Amino acid sequence: MAPAVKRGMKRRRLNAVEPQEDFTNVYGSHYATQDMPCDDIPDDSMPPEVAYRMIKDELTTKPATANPPTNNDSPPPQEKEAEDLMLEAMPKNFIDFEEYPQTAEIHHRCANMIANLFHAPKDTAIGTSSVGSSEAIMLAVLAMKRRWKQQRQQQGKPADNPNIVMSSAVQVCWEKAARYFEIEEKYVNCTRTRFVIDPKEAVELCDENTIGIVAILGTTYTGAYEDVKAISDLLVEEKSDVPIHVDAASGGFVAPFVVPDLEWDFRVERVVSINVSGHKYGLVYPGVGWVVWRSPEYLPKDLIFNINYLGAEQSSFTLNFSKGASQVIGQYYQLIRLGKAGYRHIMCNLTKTADYLTDALRELGFVIMSEGQGKGLPLVAFRFAGKDEGETEEKNFDEFALAHYLRSRGWVIPAYTMAPETGQMKMMRIVVREDFSRSRCELLIKDIKLCSRLLEQDSEQFIERLKEHVGRHTSGSGKIRDPMGVAKAVFKNERHSLQGKTGKSHAVC
Ligand SMILES: Cc1ncc(COP(=O)(O)O)c(C=O)c1O
Repeated sequence: MAPAVKRGMKRRRLNAVEPQEDFTNVYGSHYATQDMPCDDIPDDSMPPEVAYRMIKDELTTKPATANPPTNNDSPPPQEKEAEDLMLEAMPKNFIDFEEYPQTAEIHHRCANMIANLFHAPKDTAIGTSSVGSSEAIMLAVLAMKRRWKQQRQQQGKPADNPNIVMSSAVQVCWEKAARYFEIEEKYVNCTRTRFVIDPKEAVELCDENTIGIVAILGTTYTGAYEDVKAISDLLVEEKSDVPIHVDAASGGFVAPFVVPDLEWDFRVERVVSINVSGHKYGLVYPGVGWVVWRSPEYLPKDLIFNINYLGAEQSSFTLNFSKGASQVIGQYYQLIRLGKAGYRHIMCNLTKTADYLTDALRELGFVIMSEGQGKGLPLVAFRFAGKDEGETEEKNFDEFALAHYLRSRGWVIPAYTMAPETGQMKMMRIVVREDFSRSRCELLIKDIKLCSRLLEQDSEQFIERLKEHVGRHTSGSGKIRDPMGVAKAVFKNERHSLQGKTGKSHAVC
């Protein structure tokens, strides 16, 4: 029990006090949103850890091949203390609860913290870790499908034709989940001006065979948050009992800190499950995701296995059995090291940097496709303006050419073909990651300006030749062996996926 406060002493209201700036959390400090001193000696001194990290990162500003700060598929380096803990945990098998009971306890704590962050009901919510959002989504889809099937069987109705409703902006793992578990995919297509699900269309697509609607909190293309509340309200209005799963792979660790009043999580009536990637804005090295259910009602019992492993009884709902314990420990470190204040400082800084970059790109004449000011993920999606958007001449280069030019300057800024029915719209996307400081942002803006100018000057043939050259020599493309090896010939040119059917290219963020 906590000691009683001595009479006469002032009670310190820890939770109500705005935390002091924490300079050991370099990218949560105000320095991350300022340019590095260039001309004058700064008036004030800088904490050593900030000076060290900012200079170190500036020296590796253009890591074309290593760990680009403009992509979030590999998060920035974790602190030494986190790395030490994770290294020490490397030999531990997460599943061995008997030998490493504290690992199970730490897993439990993380799941609780994440469930609470998402406003899950305290007494009923359950959650588990996974290797990432893809595995988490597979588990959530299995739960929705099983629950739907059981309900249909209880009603004496056929249960052999399930479908799932989602926007065509979904990450490829949703296509996989639907295909692997034999569920029909029903898409709400994006348009040239709407890059998210249309709630009305989504609800209209539902029928008695719909196992659920997917809403994405931060699509991979534009980072926009889909309107979870609008979908739920329409379902309630229609008296439909179709559940909603929120794919918060990236947004789950952003929205609660940047826009805490946005209702997208378990505060929304029809949301039954949510996934989040620990290795994106959860700021852990790759290999950890989480899925949380509102209550056991949404997780059919016959999917849970009680396993007696080396003497310890445990319940398990995962696609694999053994896995390393390090990532869960790394997640716990970040949660308690940063706390809500640390995550809030970092995510708000990233949002400010994304807004700054947005303004700069708009000024350069690009069309901005992402939402700023915390209304979406801290990323900037943009494209060249078309002829109908103020451009006088047709360009003889596209976003893919700009991506290649930037690659030759050391930046990895991918170009994509958008979701189907957007007229093969091309776009580029810069994910603002924790270590993408204002200073790095300035350098990138300069390089985008330079490369755009070069593209205007260079001939079409030269651009094509440079694309080929960069593809061959700067990136791995052309050198990477397909993981499917010799079987590649059999599987190439597939026509069953959104990419195969429509040319949509995939993204991670
Ligand atoms: C919206 C969304 N869902 C799912 C995934 C898959 O996540 P993971 O890489 O953690 O499996 C991603 C990855 O980028 C994503 O952006």
